[in-house]
Amino acid sequence: MKVKIFMAVAMLGLLSGQTAAADEGKVLHDESCIACHASRFNGQAEQMYTRAERKKNSYASLKQMVAFCNNQVGTGWFDEEVGLVTDHLNRTYYKFPKP
Ligand code: HEC
Repeated sequence: MKVKIFMAVAMLGLLSGQTAAADEGKVLHDESCIACHASRFNGQAEQMYTRAERKKNSYASLKQMVAFCNNQVGTGWFDEEVGLVTDHLNRTYYKFPKP
């Protein structure tokens, strides 16, 4: 019984950890990136990532673009945060296989 409770608590910890990481990428992105994209597509920021002529064709090139925008915009994210935002965009829109 004790073991089961321990497992349940451990699993919960694991799950909430993952959710926090997933949300972090979205929070970072929504804070720093969404307004400018939205202004270009009549408020539909997600169209930046779903338009037919979008430029990215792999996880690596998507991450490069996130890193590039991070530099351009002066967001000051570290590589880990660039990774979280890339994962968020990839999970939500691009669905590239992650290397
Ligand atoms: C000042 C305006 C502006 C800001 C702020 C901005 N972007 Fe962009 N972003 C653009 C424009 C314009 C393009 C389209 C470039 C093109 O068509 O080559 C773009 C394109 C992109 C793309 C590629 C879309 C595709 O598949 O073609 C990604 C990914 C992206 N931005 C991520 C970000 C991230 C992450 C941030 C926040 C750090 C950010 N952008 C902040 C203007 C902005």
